[in-house]
Amino acid sequence: QGLHRNIAEVGSKSVLFVCLGNICRSPIAEAVFRKLVTDENVSDNWAIDSSAVSDWNVGRPPDSRAVSCLRNHGISTAHKARQITREDFATFDYILCMDESNLRDLNRKSNQVKNCKAKIELLGSYDPQKQLIIEDPYYGNDSDFEVVYQQCLRCCKAFLEKTH
Ligand SMILES: *[C@@H]1O[C@H](CO)[C@@H](O)[C@H](O)[C@H]1NC(C)=O
Ligand SMILES: *[C@@H]1O[C@H](CO)[C@@H](O)[C@H](O)[C@H]1NC(C)=O
Repeated sequence: QGLHRNIAEVGSKSVLFVCLGNICRSPIAEAVFRKLVTDENVSDNWAIDSSAVSDWNVGRPPDSRAVSCLRNHGISTAHKARQITREDFATFDYILCMDESNLRDLNRKSNQVKNCKAKIELLGSYDPQKQLIIEDPYYGNDSDFEVVYQQCLRCCKAFLEKTH
């Protein structure tokens, strides 16, 4: 409910980053995008959040490796994992996800809501280096998290430029 009020107030644009569990990739993307719009002094124009396709990690903070990766780049996050809701599809302008599996799940869910407004896309479709898929680093190591961070940074920059 708080989020919807937020969107109405700050109003102009909104983006929801989505991955499987909302503890690695999507909270990184959310935090990176928040930092970018803050640095550009346009944070008032944006409502930004992240969520999961699954309900596995609801209420949990991001993976400690995601938190330390962000911290290495001077970014913090206070996100708690949540699952995407039907309302999200009607509320957000953009829903940006990480891989083909996310995309399939989101398209299936969006077909079950009548008033889907969101444009559902792969975040990687904005990558100037054309890395379409942002792979799940959960079973990887710190360098896999760094790769995710760099992909998110490139894509979020390009997305922000396009939607400016
Ligand atoms: C954002 O605002 C700060 C403080 O007013 C200013 O120093 C900075 O240059 C601005 N950044 C951009 C990208 O406009
Ligand atoms: C991470 O794992 C890859 C192999 O999957 C390895 O090549 C790389 O050296 C590892 N990096 C770190 C920082 O441990």
